[in-house]
Amino acid sequence: MNSRGLVVRNLTAHLFTKRGCARAVDGISFAIPPRKTLGLVGESGSGKSMACMALMRLLPKPAGQIVDGEVWLDGVDLLKLSEREMQEIRGRRIAMILQDPTSSLNPVLKIGYQVGEPVRQHENVRGGPLRTRVVELMRQVQIAAPEDRINAYPHQLSGGMRQRVVGAAALACKPQLLIADEPTTSLDVTVQMHYLSLLQELQQQQQFGMLFITHDIHLVPSICDAVAVMYAGRIVEQGEVDAVFKRPAHPYTRALLRAAPRLDEAMESLESIPGELPSLTELGPGCRFAARCSKASQVCSDAYPPDTGLEHDHRVNCWLYGQPA
Ligand SMILES: Nc1ncnc2c1ncn2[C@@H]1O[C@H](COP(=O)(O)OP(=O)(O)OP(=O)(O)O)[C@@H](O)[C@H]1O
Ligand SMILES: [Mg+2]
Repeated sequence: MNSRGLVVRNLTAHLFTKRGCARAVDGISFAIPPRKTLGLVGESGSGKSMACMALMRLLPKPAGQIVDGEVWLDGVDLLKLSEREMQEIRGRRIAMILQDPTSSLNPVLKIGYQVGEPVRQHENVRGGPLRTRVVELMRQVQIAAPEDRINAYPHQLSGGMRQRVVGAAALACKPQLLIADEPTTSLDVTVQMHYLSLLQELQQQQQFGMLFITHDIHLVPSICDAVAVMYAGRIVEQGEVDAVFKRPAHPYTRALLRAAPRLDEAMESLESIPGELPSLTELGPGCRFAARCSKASQVCSDAYPPDTGLEHDHRVNCWLYGQPA
């Protein structure tokens, strides 16, 4: 594998629970070339976070296990590295921003200490130079008076500021890839928009690639180059943003485009997709969306649809496009 950037192939991660084996991530493949942004979208519970955790090798233990696949970063398969080598990747080459800043920040440690943590760990910088670096990082994410704020505790900051602090820590060692897992879900709408434009500005400056996860498909066009739509552990459609938004192929993608909340619309006016996600421990052989799909026929529940190429890199897994054998 000589390609630059991130290439994920057939990544399969299961959760072995009391209720059986949940196929949370079931053979997903995608690529993020350097400096590009891929949006990963899908309803709550579709496996987006598990996919990130799997590729960072941070699945919940002991339930979560990677059972198949490859995760290449600049030609190195991360799944073959030792845990020690993987620690060098996390925070330095690939960094993460999670949904809820309170879970990424330790409530009893000062902000400055936490922003400086990756620099201390990976670059062994200490004392005055570390302090200067931390102040600069906080300034970069637009925290006013960073010299004073380094001594604050997380609860003394607003939600938006806390999430910017998490961003500062994530970008501290200039990672080549940032995984942003619903980074704005806990923020209110105006703060959300501000955060997203800050993220884009930082990406322009620092040129990192990004895996941007959201359940709001309408955030994708302004932020992403490509999009992958995930449903019940599988990617059902992916391609360049232009192609997927102009010609959405999968009935699930179309339903998401009709149903997902738009930031500029009142929530009440939304259509929702009838039905719910199937249980990940009791999946049949067919398309996982079949039970909710108005276009479904018998073949859809009998066999999983083939991966069909439409135009350029636009691909879909749906019997409307593939021919039954
Ligand atoms: N720690 C865990 N132990 C067992 N099962 C889990 C755990 N975390 C998540 N799951 C299950 O894994 C499946 C995928 O969850 P995941 O968190 O990846 O969804 P998601 O797409 O990120 O949803 P959301 O948009 O709500 O964040 C779900 O069925 C969920 O119940
Ligand atoms: Mg999630």
